[in-house]
Amino acid sequence: MKIRFDGEHHYFGSAAKTMDNVFRQRRMAFPKRTSELVALMAISATLFLFLHTRDLNSKLRQMEGRLQPEDLTQSAANQISGGSAMSAVSAMMRQLKESGEISNLDAKALNNTRFARKEMIFFNRVPKVGSQTFMELLRTLGQHNGFAFNRDHIQRVETVRLAPAEQLELAAMINSYPTPSVFVKHICFINFTQFHLPEPIYVNMVRDPVERVISWYYYVRAPWYYVERKQVFPDIPLPDPMWLKKDFETCVLQGDRECQYIEGALREGIGDHRRQSLFFCGHSDACTPFNTQGALQRAKRAVEENYAVVGVLEDLNSTLTVLEHYIPRFFKGARQISNLDAKALNNTRFARKEMIFFNRVPKVGSQTFMELLRTLGQHNGFAFNRDHIQRVETVRLAPAEQLELAAMINSYPTPSVFVKHICFINFTQFHLPEPIYVNMVRDPVERVISWYYYVRAPWYYVERKQVFPDIPLPDPMWLKKDFETCVLQGDRECQYIEGALREGIGDHRRQSLFFCGHSDACTPFNTQGALQRAKRAVEENYAVVGVLEDLNSTLTVLEHYIPRFFKGARQVYRDEVERFKGINRNIFKPPVSEEVKEIVRRNFTREIEFYHFCRQRLHRQLLALQLPETSEGLR
Ligand SMILES: *[C@@H]1O[C@H](CO)[C@@H](O)[C@H](O)[C@H]1NC(C)=O
Ligand SMILES: *[C@@H]1O[C@H](CO)[C@@H](O)[C@H](O)[C@H]1NC(C)=O
Ligand SMILES: *[C@@H]1O[C@H](CO)[C@@H](O)[C@H](O)[C@H]1NC(C)=O
Ligand SMILES: *[C@@H]1O[C@H](CO)[C@@H](O)[C@H](O)[C@H]1NC(C)=O
Ligand SMILES: *[C@@H]1O[C@H](CO)[C@@H](O)[C@H](O)[C@H]1NC(C)=O
Ligand SMILES: *[C@@H]1O[C@H](CO)[C@@H](O)[C@H](O)[C@H]1NC(C)=O
Ligand SMILES: *[C@@H]1O[C@H](CO)[C@@H](O)[C@H](O)[C@H]1NC(C)=O
Repeated sequence: MKIRFDGEHHYFGSAAKTMDNVFRQRRMAFPKRTSELVALMAISATLFLFLHTRDLNSKLRQMEGRLQPEDLTQSAANQISGGSAMSAVSAMMRQLKESGEISNLDAKALNNTRFARKEMIFFNRVPKVGSQTFMELLRTLGQHNGFAFNRDHIQRVETVRLAPAEQLELAAMINSYPTPSVFVKHICFINFTQFHLPEPIYVNMVRDPVERVISWYYYVRAPWYYVERKQVFPDIPLPDPMWLKKDFETCVLQGDRECQYIEGALREGIGDHRRQSLFFCGHSDACTPFNTQGALQRAKRAVEENYAVVGVLEDLNSTLTVLEHYIPRFFKGARQISNLDAKALNNTRFARKEMIFFNRVPKVGSQTFMELLRTLGQHNGFAFNRDHIQRVETVRLAPAEQLELAAMINSYPTPSVFVKHICFINFTQFHLPEPIYVNMVRDPVERVISWYYYVRAPWYYVERKQVFPDIPLPDPMWLKKDFETCVLQGDRECQYIEGALREGIGDHRRQSLFFCGHSDACTPFNTQGALQRAKRAVEENYAVVGVLEDLNSTLTVLEHYIPRFFKGARQVYRDEVERFKGINRNIFKPPVSEEVKEIVRRNFTREIEFYHFCRQRLHRQLLALQLPETSEGLR
């Protein structure tokens, strides 16, 4: 009864080099013919849902045009430039317009928001339709429009279809969140009314179904996808290199099981990711056979009767306009917030030297990132420098020491990179030319757990003992203690108290410290003042702050905002992923329960806010690029 997203799909291979070809040829060289063949022969029902939604959307847009007559011509122009795979869609659209159906419009009748009985958005997001960026937008809007943002946690196996009892449980859980709020999860449509719960405001996104199926095909084969999952679930098996290397065309033309689209066929196990209509049809058995009329009708009915807005990735502008007008409580200002200016977000232009200063935060994948920089140095012609292993890693310095370090960094010939675990140093303050600041962040609670086990890993203290033989070996009791026990027993090491100071080896618990700087105002745990300083440095000084959980966007943004250094970064990462991915992986890290993580999260509020701040900025930078393949970037 359960559909699984993943299961057998997460394997590691040793063939990243050859994958390279797959990636190089992927989307650009993809012949229209195959994709049209697939569209026409196989996914017609899903395509109709897409057309239907698009049709609805265009009606809404026409309404919008009436409200704002000056926009009408603009919208019409957008309409024609639909996009490459969309010629059939455009033709259909023209037909619908010519039939006059479009003039019969009533914004109220099309407004399902009025049926909602709660100020709660339920975004049961379809994967690979730009929903990640849409989710980040919702998070930002939450701060502007005053609503809470909630999402589920990363799942080992993403179950999108549930038995009725589980649906009820999930719906009741969603219903228990205080309003106004948003809840986001990959899950099929749940009919709240059926469980006598107040109806939320349903929203979702769709995209061209053939582009989506291709996107999914390569998504599960991308190094960041399985590397990231391996980090979270170390025991997930390795992918088969043959499977990784296979391209979509071969898969379709050879009739591989994975690329066979047979009407009425059932696919359990790894889950039927092929049909976005499944996410609208619901959990019924009638929804599972591929490309059937019955499933289509159910999906259409849910869209018509329940969904307030189903956005279309290929038409983000109209989607945002419609959202703003049909769900104003939540989406007010959405277009303005996503009105992005790549130049304004580009701090690289303030640098006065061809020098990258990477003041790396520990335990955020920065070792991998450092190796990537070293390799890129050979490709793009710049020198790589880092500090030596320290007896005691001092991340905060007195002003005189800061000046000394900044002057030393400044003395390296350019173009070059300098890497060190150190708090942000304001070069301008010392009248030195500003370098290009970069850094990485990651989920702050995952990071603190990672740090906890890192300092207990044998190679950590054995290596240190080799370099500094007089350092005493740690107490075995301390080594054996697990994170959960440490938190639950309230050990000093695992106490996170607002305003508390922790000197000595430095407060490794807060990544924001590395952005706040050396001031005394930065030292108390989880304070508003330190958070504001850290945010300001990111906004004003950092060219890019990457996010470990979003490596693809990070590399894309780096390539475009700091091209002198990061040209070809994604390619290099793909080629070298086998070499990079083993670095610093701690096989001694046991899983930590969600309950304990939640206890820690409650005290890491400012760290979590800082992390999301960095994440949003990264997504804004990505969106502002308006890449031709943006729809892809918007995964
Ligand atoms: C949801 O459930 C209600 C009550 O059982 C029913 O009237 C309605 O038709 C259902 N909606 C959908 C889209 O299945
Ligand atoms: C988005 O839509 C608005 C009005 O609907 C229009 O004024 C604007 O030019 C559009 N922007 C783009 C990039 O198409
Ligand atoms: C739709 O309904 C919501 C909730 O009643 C309301 O706030 C919004 O203005 C309506 N939009 C339109 C275009 O009717
Ligand atoms: C860095 O120093 C300059 C000059 O003192 C100052 O104007 C700027 O605000 C400082 N930046 C940060 C992020 O502290
Ligand atoms: C969280 O903070 C509260 C209030 O300062 C404190 O009582 C509690 O012990 C802290 N929890 C942890 C796990 O540090
Ligand atoms: C950002 O600025 C740098 C340096 O001026 C430039 O090379 C790069 O192309 C810019 N990127 C964007 C996206 O504006
Ligand atoms: C990575 O991002 C780029 C641009 O943002 C996109 O073109 C590409 O398809 C993405 N790849 C995956 C596997 O998500």
